[in-house]
Amino acid sequence: MFDMKDFIASCQEALLQPEPASIVKGLVEYAVTEPEALREAFAETSGARSLKDAALFLSDELTILDVTTPPGMRTPAHDHQMWAVIGVYDGEEPNEFFLHGNEGLESKSNRILKAGDVAMLDGKTIHAISNPLKRKSYAIHVYGGHIVEQPGRSMWNPHTLAREPYDMDQLGKYVREMRDIPAA
Ligand SMILES: [Fe+2]
Repeated sequence: MFDMKDFIASCQEALLQPEPASIVKGLVEYAVTEPEALREAFAETSGARSLKDAALFLSDELTILDVTTPPGMRTPAHDHQMWAVIGVYDGEEPNEFFLHGNEGLESKSNRILKAGDVAMLDGKTIHAISNPLKRKSYAIHVYGGHIVEQPGRSMWNPHTLAREPYDMDQLGKYVREMRDIPAA
């Protein structure tokens, strides 16, 4: 049965190992097999409007978020500058991955994460997530650093695709504006 304290402790132990992201991936893979237990454990953070509110754990080395994506939501492309593990436990979270190309940002691949799916992202990954469903989707996101305060992150303006320094408030503004931009 999923236990929040145990999960956090196991993630912290993983940080001491040479490949923490792989170990965390295993922990998240196991966690998402118990969606009911996760819903119960995350009752207080579920539906949080900001990343800080969604934080189950936040330190300089580790962030654990309970991420709720509203129906129809899309984010601009952004990076994390740290490894990340995403595990969907209810609904789905399509991920679009990008590369730096000659002409700027180029779409590289897509992966639709459905309930029970887990993805591991390295520190150079650029992605955008969305929720195409008519209901909320829920996922655990674990990052190998402080996702709110990590310096040097980038995001891409959804209107111009220009690279910009990551700014949480501006990202939120883009997310609201993207409701009105037709999906590619
Ligand atoms: Fe992300």
